[in-house]
Amino acid sequence: MNILIIGNGGREYAIALKLKSEKNVSNLYFAPGNGATSKLGKNLKVKDYHELANFAKENNIDLTIVGPEAPLSEGVVDIFKEYGLLIFGPSKSAARLEGSKAFMKDFLARNGIKTAKYLNTDDFDRASKFIDSLNVPIVVKADGLCAGKGVIIAKTKEEAKSSAKEMLSGESFGDAGKCVVVEEFLDGFELSFFAICDGENFVSLPVAQDHKRLLDNDEGPNTGGMGAYAPSPLATTKLIKQVEEEVVKPTLKGMKSEGYPFCGVLFVGLMVVNDEPYVLEFNVRFGDPECEVLMPLIDGNLSEILLNAAKGELKEVKLKNEFAVGVVMASKNYPYSSTPKAKIEVLKVPQNSHIAYAGVSEENGEIYADGGRVLVCVGVAKSIKEARDRAYELCENVKFQGSQYRKDIAWQMLGKDKK
Ligand code: AMP
Ligand code: GLY
Repeated sequence: MNILIIGNGGREYAIALKLKSEKNVSNLYFAPGNGATSKLGKNLKVKDYHELANFAKENNIDLTIVGPEAPLSEGVVDIFKEYGLLIFGPSKSAARLEGSKAFMKDFLARNGIKTAKYLNTDDFDRASKFIDSLNVPIVVKADGLCAGKGVIIAKTKEEAKSSAKEMLSGESFGDAGKCVVVEEFLDGFELSFFAICDGENFVSLPVAQDHKRLLDNDEGPNTGGMGAYAPSPLATTKLIKQVEEEVVKPTLKGMKSEGYPFCGVLFVGLMVVNDEPYVLEFNVRFGDPECEVLMPLIDGNLSEILLNAAKGELKEVKLKNEFAVGVVMASKNYPYSSTPKAKIEVLKVPQNSHIAYAGVSEENGEIYADGGRVLVCVGVAKSIKEARDRAYELCENVKFQGSQYRKDIAWQMLGKDKK
């Protein structure tokens, strides 16, 4: 198979690394890819999705996999389908589950799926009245895509009101904040639940836990995610069943009956409160860094799984009986500002560990840290502790100037005693 992967992060690298190990995969292409994906396949530079679809036609691409949310929300799947190409990911209409928080919240309400009490509005007075009816803390979210930054957890009603006002005026997030969602704060623990869907049927993947804050002990600013592990024992068999029955099934049924069946990865961001799963958000793609720990746990053939899903003929997925831990190494100024390039040196890659490259560029065959989340060190083992130890052993062997990483990934299972 010839496969095209859209995206340039560690998630796309991790997908490619898994595909690369499969006998039936011949060529991999990336649009645009990063400085390390060029070692796994060919990076493409194209100006738009039509040019990319033409490339796919001319180069006999059998399957296209979309990594990030932006191309999905921009309708890349619809365009590829117009060209008669097979592509794994939701249509533009279905991608609204992530692209519009207002759409997502109303969809949950229409379909009887548990979520935090909320109000969607573009009117400040209504937002203000609703804020007065809630207890603090209060959550205020911009409606549109804000790269994970459009969520304010306000400690006072005044702060909630001023955040809503700034968003509605377009000051904070431009058009993405012209409609806001105000919601009650849910106090529990978060899980990342993934289901591969073909429009009607689904298979669940191991449940992961992300670490969104920059610093140890969940302190510092929110980031795209500083590390993940899977499967999380916090997701009991009972909880998984409950999410499948009460969230995933009604979502697929509702999306189909409303006219936009969901094909792709349904990533349910859950808050578990007193053993009950509430949907915090939907994403319509693999999480990053969750994908980096999920890929090594898939025993079956990923190319076949995603091809069948794209055709609407999803089959079972075999999983390994192992754990994976991924530790993100970020550049010095992440998540505040850019960082000058720095050469990456890998002294040693211990057994059962590997690197998923993200924010990197290539020059004369050398790989450079190029800002943001640079790479993920992944360890795989029969226990979370061993997997964590392997991931950190690898981190100690990866050197670049200004690197930073959390030392407590998987603390929820291993306790706060740091490595
Ligand atoms: P979102 O982009 O909606 O996932 O929000 C980003 C982060 O904000 C989540 O991962 C949670 O940590 C937090 N968050 C969002 N909504 C709520 C809520 N209703 N209650 C508590 N925390 C929340
Ligand atoms: N790690 C969270 C996300 O990908 O949205």
